[in-house]
Amino acid sequence: MNSLVLSHFDNYSQITINRPQALNALNAEVFNELDQVLSGTLPKSSKLLVITGSGEKAFAAGADITEFSNLSGDAARNMSQKGQKIFDKLEKYCLPTIALINGYALGGGLELALACQIRLITQKSILGLPELNLALIPGYGGTQRLPGLIGKGKAIYYTLTSENMNAETAVANGAADFLFPDIAEAQVFIENFAKKLSFKSSISLGLALEAIQNSGESAGFDLESDNFKKAFEAEDMKEGVGAFLEKRKPVFSHK
Ligand code: COA
Repeated sequence: MNSLVLSHFDNYSQITINRPQALNALNAEVFNELDQVLSGTLPKSSKLLVITGSGEKAFAAGADITEFSNLSGDAARNMSQKGQKIFDKLEKYCLPTIALINGYALGGGLELALACQIRLITQKSILGLPELNLALIPGYGGTQRLPGLIGKGKAIYYTLTSENMNAETAVANGAADFLFPDIAEAQVFIENFAKKLSFKSSISLGLALEAIQNSGESAGFDLESDNFKKAFEAEDMKEGVGAFLEKRKPVFSHK
C-alpha cells in the first residue's frame, strides 16, 4: 500500500492516511486501498479498527480537489457512488470503527469520519463540509449521515453555510463523541477501550454491533449522487475548483 499504512497493536489495528503533503486528501488510491483493507482480514486479536491521518494538521482535508478538474457529470456520479459504497462497507464493518481526528476533518474527510461508528477528536480539531464553497455538494454520504447525528436543522445550517465546527461545538452538536486535550490522551482511551473488548465474547460483540449498525436507513444516497453529478455539470463548479487550485477567491455566475 502506498497512500495508507496499516498497523497492528496489542488489541486493535489502525489505518493511517499517509498523504501529509496534501493534508491527507482522499484521492482514488486512498479509496482503493481502504476498500482493500476493509475486504481483507485483521489479526484475530484486533477488537477495534482505528482510522487516522498522518502529520500534525489533518485527519483529512477532503476529497482530493486536484482530481476534480476535468471530471464529467457521469464520472462524478460514479466517483460518488464508489465512495459511498466503500464508506458503507466501513459503516457496516465487523469491528467497531473509530475516527481519530487531530486537526482538519473537512468535506470527504468528515464524511469518512461520519462513516466510522465512533469519532474521537482533539481540542485543535476543525470539522466541516466546505463543498459549497466550491459550488459542489458532499458526495460521500455527508448529506445523509450528518443530519442523523446533529439533526436536520443543524445539518442544513452547517452544510449550506460551509461554516466549520470547532471541537467543543462538534461534540455539543453530536458530530463527535469524545473530546481529548491531545492525541496522546485519545490514544490511551483507544488502548483501554480495545482492552475492555478483549475480555468479551467475540460472538456477543459481533451481534450487538450488527444490531446497532442496522438502526439506520439509506434512502437519500442515490439522490446525493445524482445531485453531485448535477453540481459537476454546472459552470460554477469549474470556477470553484479552478479558484481553489489557483489559490484565489471564486467568482460564481449563479448567485
Ligand atoms: N485536495 C487537494 N489538495 C489539498 C486539499 C484537498 N482537499 N486540501 C489541502 N490540499 C493541499 C493544498 O493545496 C496544499 O498543497 P500545496 O502545498 O501543494 O499548495 C497543501 O494541501 C496544504 O494546504 P494549505 O491550503 O496550504 O494549508 P492551510 O493550512 O493554509 O489550509 C485548509 C488548510 C484545510 C483550510 C485548506 O487546505 C483547505 O481549505 N483545503 C480544502 C478543503 C476543502 O474544500 N475540502 C473539500 C473538498 S470537496
